[in-house]
Amino acid sequence: MSFDRSIKIAPSILSADFANFGAECEAIEAQGADWVHVDVMDGHFVPNITFGPATCAAIRPHIKTVMDVHLMIAPVDPYIEAFAKAGADIITAHVEAGPHIHRTVQAIRGAGAKAGVALNPGTPAAAVAELLDMVDLVLVMTVNPGFGGQKFIDMTAKVRALRAMIGDRPIHIEIDGGVDPTTAPLVAAAGADVLVAGSAVFRGGSVTDPAPYGANIRAIRAAAEA
Ligand code: DX5
Ligand code: ZN
Repeated sequence: MSFDRSIKIAPSILSADFANFGAECEAIEAQGADWVHVDVMDGHFVPNITFGPATCAAIRPHIKTVMDVHLMIAPVDPYIEAFAKAGADIITAHVEAGPHIHRTVQAIRGAGAKAGVALNPGTPAAAVAELLDMVDLVLVMTVNPGFGGQKFIDMTAKVRALRAMIGDRPIHIEIDGGVDPTTAPLVAAAGADVLVAGSAVFRGGSVTDPAPYGANIRAIRAAAEA
């Protein structure tokens, strides 16, 4: 099968009801999510704490699509095995999280998961140039990581540069932060194919009233595909 470059919407459960992750994952998938984006924060690499591998393992049975784990932690390497065992399909680590991102990518692949590398807004595309033959995804942060609901930072020039660097390689470009129907078209036009959205997906809905999730996902997808 050829590599899927179509637009994929990946709701971030950072904006879900933390007391109800299982039901929230099922609700967003039923409403059209392509992937489920799972934000792991350690209060050290980023100024916020979410959850770890045990929570990922607990929600895994409630995800039928792709469990896309975004690690905002430092160090990364001691925890890779645990997140792989928790069932992560994709594990993404930040290039800024330590001096040995190449080793981290090797370890993620070695643990049996697909490997992603993430770039903070202040980090140039060139930081992943030597990794492109060994990764499955490059994540471009369009906010400084740590919190949902922040204002989109325009990284379209970086996305275009990455798209050119990637060429024909089977590598997804994922955008994370401030994605909504107004910003999605900018990054899609620049070459991104996976759009993470937290507040723009979960706003207005709940597990007992999930229809707004579907409307929000469709609105982002339609804007990106227009
Ligand atoms: C930020 C996280 C994002 C965040 C996006 O550090 O990595 O995934 O949840 O949230 P929104 O879409 O609300 O900007
Ligand atoms: Zn994220």
